[in-house]
Amino acid sequence: MFLNNSIVKLLNITYPIIQGGMVYCSDYKLASAVSNAGGLGTIGAGAMTPEELEINIKKCKDITNKPFAVNIPLISEYSNTHVRICVDLKVPVVITSAGNPVTYTEYLKKNNIKVLHVVSNTKFAQKAESAGVDAIIAEGFEAGGHNGKEETTTFVLIPLISKSVNIPVIAAGGICTGKHILAALALGASGVQIGTLFIASEESSAHVNFKNKIINSKEGDTMLCLKKIIPTRLIKNEFYNQLLKMEEENNYEQIKNIIRGRPKMGMLEGNIEDGMLEAGQNVCLIDEILPVSKIIENLINEFKQEYYKLQEKFNL
Ligand SMILES: Cc1cc2nc3c(=O)[nH]c(=O)nc-3n(C[C@H](O)[C@H](O)[C@H](O)COP(=O)(O)O)c2cc1C
Repeated sequence: MFLNNSIVKLLNITYPIIQGGMVYCSDYKLASAVSNAGGLGTIGAGAMTPEELEINIKKCKDITNKPFAVNIPLISEYSNTHVRICVDLKVPVVITSAGNPVTYTEYLKKNNIKVLHVVSNTKFAQKAESAGVDAIIAEGFEAGGHNGKEETTTFVLIPLISKSVNIPVIAAGGICTGKHILAALALGASGVQIGTLFIASEESSAHVNFKNKIINSKEGDTMLCLKKIIPTRLIKNEFYNQLLKMEEENNYEQIKNIIRGRPKMGMLEGNIEDGMLEAGQNVCLIDEILPVSKIIENLINEFKQEYYKLQEKFNL
């Protein structure tokens, strides 16, 4: 029942589970592990140089012969070169985000690359569909990392976008259990994209301090900030408090200077108080670091159990 929907067919994967590209957290080790476990792993190219991306793609291909993706945030200074590298190295899927889907979709598709694009509202979903992307990733307010200005939650966004476009929709934001996947599919999605849960995996490149921070965080420990520049969901820490104060004083020039290098400091180098820690609201539901294969097995088993429980409960 679960194994044969539009996303599984489109991406040639076993489960409609996509691991979201995440700066400093998703290099080839995470991407290949997710693909080998039946999902679609994604190399997050957002903070990589062209040389680093090339190495990551080649290493990923050494470890898996399954499809995988590269995420290219279009605001990246290297997006043009990154796109060319993906074409040259025949990457099966490219996930674009944070920019105009018109720029590269046609070129990528002409080169037999599947294109998914991340949006946080209906207007951009329709624009991405017109640009010819194969599927939309609709990311709600709960998600870790950069976020939409409208603050639309996944629960509202998925039915809204599903009825506004004619291509498959993948739900992102807040998803970390089999129950969430079931709910996302009920809301009209054909698959899910998961970020924060995969940071808490053995294979993610995040620093162990960041992984531990995720599994120890509680309800309310993440907050959307930098709303006037680039809305970003962060785990609260010393640096978050400094940002909050500067935002209250409308001190945006200083903010732009001070945030440089902070995501790397927090997420890759493990400076938990002075770095920026991008993570989703669902940190409060994640409490252990597991191998990717176990994470995916748990998601699928729970999905199936919950599906049958509902059937029984409502005598369907
Ligand atoms: C640490 C972190 C870094 C991220 N970096 C990127 C990125 O470079 N490009 C992108 O399109 N999305 C990025 N995202 C968003 C994820 O790909 C994914 O859509 C999101 O995490 C889903 O929500 P969840 O965290 O609630 O699962 C990032 C998310 C996190 C938590």
